[in-house]
Amino acid sequence: MAEKETIVVVDFGSQTSQLIARRVRDINVYSELVPYTSSAEKIKSYNPIGIILTGGPLSTFENGSYKIDPEVYNLGVPVLGICYGMQLTAQTLGGEVSTGKNAEYGKVEIEYADHPLFDGVKKNNSVWMNHHDQVTKLGKDFKGIGKTKNTKYSAIANDKKKIYGVQFHPEVAHTEQGIDILKNFVYKICGATGSWTMNSFVKDQVELLRKKLTGKKVLLALSGGVDSSVCAALIQKACPESLICVFVDHGLLRKYEREQVEEVFKEQFKINLITADASERFLKKLKNKTDPEAKRKIIGKQFIKVFEKEAKKIGKVDFLAQGTIYPDVVESGVAGSAVIKSHHNVGGLPSVVDFEEIIEPLRDLYKDEVRKVGFELGLPEKIVMRQPFPGPGLGIRVIGKITKEKLEILRDADFIFRDEIEKAGLSDKIWQYFAVITNMRSVGVMGDHRTYDYTVALRGVNSIDAMTADWYKIPYEVLDKCSNRIVNEVKHVNRVVYDITSKPPATIEWE
Ligand code: XMP
Repeated sequence: MAEKETIVVVDFGSQTSQLIARRVRDINVYSELVPYTSSAEKIKSYNPIGIILTGGPLSTFENGSYKIDPEVYNLGVPVLGICYGMQLTAQTLGGEVSTGKNAEYGKVEIEYADHPLFDGVKKNNSVWMNHHDQVTKLGKDFKGIGKTKNTKYSAIANDKKKIYGVQFHPEVAHTEQGIDILKNFVYKICGATGSWTMNSFVKDQVELLRKKLTGKKVLLALSGGVDSSVCAALIQKACPESLICVFVDHGLLRKYEREQVEEVFKEQFKINLITADASERFLKKLKNKTDPEAKRKIIGKQFIKVFEKEAKKIGKVDFLAQGTIYPDVVESGVAGSAVIKSHHNVGGLPSVVDFEEIIEPLRDLYKDEVRKVGFELGLPEKIVMRQPFPGPGLGIRVIGKITKEKLEILRDADFIFRDEIEKAGLSDKIWQYFAVITNMRSVGVMGDHRTYDYTVALRGVNSIDAMTADWYKIPYEVLDKCSNRIVNEVKHVNRVVYDITSKPPATIEWE
């Protein structure tokens, strides 16, 4: 197995730090995001072929601004500074930075000099800027290789030491040929060969996992979500006799979800899958509970209890596998702190399973890479492209008391909604869409009878990271079909509404 070619991306708190790391991976080179507080020694430990310094919100000359260990420039590895990263580089290596007369925000015309960094890039091009400070003086061996109307040094180079800087953001789509510039840096200057593909990832991981797991037992909580599904398929490919999956059916799943998981993993993939049917237990514990947080806590706690019961039957295992992915563990940003996965259905598991070690085969991957791996492994699209589904499931989409009847209504309405979205070709355009059964009943009329039935709410949102979301403008004809079908096909629903609030101030889920 070849050593992983790595570009280390040093994060100075820019909005686009993650994006830079993603772009590098998109051009088939592995990248790691590290906080700016990382020492040169630490950065060296990744054995990088190149280093990229991101932008950041501060001025390099203001008190308390983020610095870099200057030894980073002596590692003998090419460095590319972007925006703040370029200014910091210039300042650290003998140049000067000050606030410019004119700020540059948004699209700006640039003129590049002849330089390998701009090979194949049009000489006069437009780039995306976001700065007021600029480099005003260069240190020894530096030269300007790009300028704009307002900024003399929009790109700089020290060819001797292979240290470069661009004031603009090559990683954003608005910079013309920005990807070509990143490619030039990564391939021509750092000498990458482009070995980071999901095909090679699968091969390498299968080899590693086989070595590690042969003759051992590994337990995985399979939720049917993308991460745990891909994790299961990967381990199954490496070492089928080692893997045991437990799938907890808490009775709060969507229509046909359990059947789908069993069909794919048991029938197709021949995985040793244990389904724990605990729907009655969950319903009992949730009886008469209406507070959303109380519901979440009960569901989380019962999930762990059910899993514990199954784990006890299995006995001691060597490994507990988890579908943790890169955004769950990446240490980035100004705080330099790791984001800890708070997903309830994995959070408490380590304490109830008797195991030696946790394995997380997907921890280097971004979500879209996990999906590519899923396809490589032959998982069906309906699993690989599955939209986010909360751990507490339909439990937080039944407003008020959770009853069997309300769950049935919700499942049917939700199924119709998803079916119509798919038929309208919108499923890959809407990030998350689902139905909610409100706790409201109102008067309607059906035939000659008055009805007093539930209102179902439909919700469709687009989001990048679930922190903010916009409601999706589903065409009226599609909403019309959904509404018609739901009131006609689902008993006890006489009103359908569409949620047109964004997050904030609303949340994506109703509870
Ligand atoms: P909200 O409703 O907070 O949802 O805007 C943001 C995203 O998180 C999902 N979500 C959850 N996921 N356990 C989970 O695993 C939960 O308790 C939970 N609550 C919300 C939600 O579906 C959306 O994608």
